[in-house]
Amino acid sequence: MKRALILAGGLGKRMHSPRPKVIHEILGKPVIKWVIDVAKKAGIDDVAVVVGHNGEAVRNVVGDDVKVYFQPKQLGTADAVKCALEFLDGRVVVLYGDAPLVKPSTVKKLMESEADMTVLTADVKKPDGYGRIVRKDGEILKIVEDVEASVEELKIHEVNSGIYAFNADALRYALKHITPNNQKGEYYLTDAVDILLKAGKSVDAVKIESELEILGMNTQEELSLLFKIARERILISLMDSGVTVEDPTSTFIGPDVRVEPGAVLKPFTFVYGSSFIASESIVGPETTLIDTTVGEKSLVYRSECNGAKVGKRCSVGPFSRLRPGAILDDGVKVGNYVEVKNSHLFESVKAQHLTYLGDATVGAETNVGAGTITCNYDGKKKSRTTIGRRVFIGSNSALVAPVEIGDNAMIGAGSVITNDVPSYALTLGRARQINKEGWVLKKMEANDEK
Ligand code: UD1
Ligand code: CA
Repeated sequence: MKRALILAGGLGKRMHSPRPKVIHEILGKPVIKWVIDVAKKAGIDDVAVVVGHNGEAVRNVVGDDVKVYFQPKQLGTADAVKCALEFLDGRVVVLYGDAPLVKPSTVKKLMESEADMTVLTADVKKPDGYGRIVRKDGEILKIVEDVEASVEELKIHEVNSGIYAFNADALRYALKHITPNNQKGEYYLTDAVDILLKAGKSVDAVKIESELEILGMNTQEELSLLFKIARERILISLMDSGVTVEDPTSTFIGPDVRVEPGAVLKPFTFVYGSSFIASESIVGPETTLIDTTVGEKSLVYRSECNGAKVGKRCSVGPFSRLRPGAILDDGVKVGNYVEVKNSHLFESVKAQHLTYLGDATVGAETNVGAGTITCNYDGKKKSRTTIGRRVFIGSNSALVAPVEIGDNAMIGAGSVITNDVPSYALTLGRARQINKEGWVLKKMEANDEK
């Protein structure tokens, strides 16, 4: 049995934020979810979080498959673990909700170590504030908190990350024996080392190379540092895999985004959520994609797309906006100042200029002229517009939904379409033009006579 318990009961006072610390976001994803995913990527499916202050807000972001335990009073890290006593079973890894950079491979290593308690440690340049790892003959002896440490102990640079793996039985035993006899009057989980060793159990320490992995966040500035490190890691791994990132300093890619080798990310590009970018497509410059899929050999530039699906060989932009439910089949072209919402554009549809397509179906090879608007909202309800194949919609037409336009129909420019249009019809829904010949000349002559 493998389980992960994430401690997130602390107040996070120094963030000076009305929101709990762990729901602040890094690259579009709450910090607590980064930690949950570290556990999952390490092969641990059973995850629980201990929450305290503003716990409800945390519960709302963690998802249904994560158990939540409440810690009524922040009495220390051991007290937090005690709040989840019933969860402790098999091998348990303890993580912090505000330390998202630990690598899944590191957590795996901790899980696989066989000691009753395994502490993750690192040598850091500035150990202030951390618990120090006190060793004797190379073996870990105890962890001393910063405030309790002697002058000699304060000189130790190997520190406690706060991340551990335990055998549940040993952890339960330690929790029973931890007392708040210390400077802060808190239940220190770090006391488990001493308690377990005295009880004849085995304690081990695993040291990691990079101190970056154990970084937590207590202030907004530290949050921004974590953001920077996380961002660089993602970009480097994308570039290593064969993605071209033209300007890493202005490119932001979320942790759950997938980009295929051979794709090109241009400067000032933001890709978040569960987006996917296929090979040989070009995204950017100045483009935001959220939960959006871009197919092979497509181009999306200077545009904003959220919840959209772009097929192969499409062109989107500049200044296009794709909203949730926009589905562009292969070869679709959507141009400047075109907004598409909850609409399916079949193969090779063109809507190149100044258009709103909302709640619409547009058949293959249809040409949507400049300034076409689907009037999908009558002030009370939304209605659909259904446009057939190879339709030609003249510029500046208003299609008042619900309305259906048959295959191969042609709509004259400036039409307001309120009735269905049959296939192959030419439809003109506008006032007829009147030319009054010589009218201006007569007016001028009349003025001259005055
Ligand atoms: C803790 C460790 C210290 C380690 C450091 C690493 C103890 C006693 N000390 O110190 O050795 O070097 O982490 O960052 O464990 N939390 C709760 N409930 C509480 C208290 C804390 O859920 O009552 C959670 C916090 O939300 C946080 C984590 O536990 O995620 C660590 O708490 P924090 O108060 O920051 O511990 P430190 O004093 O930094
Ligand atoms: Ca801390």
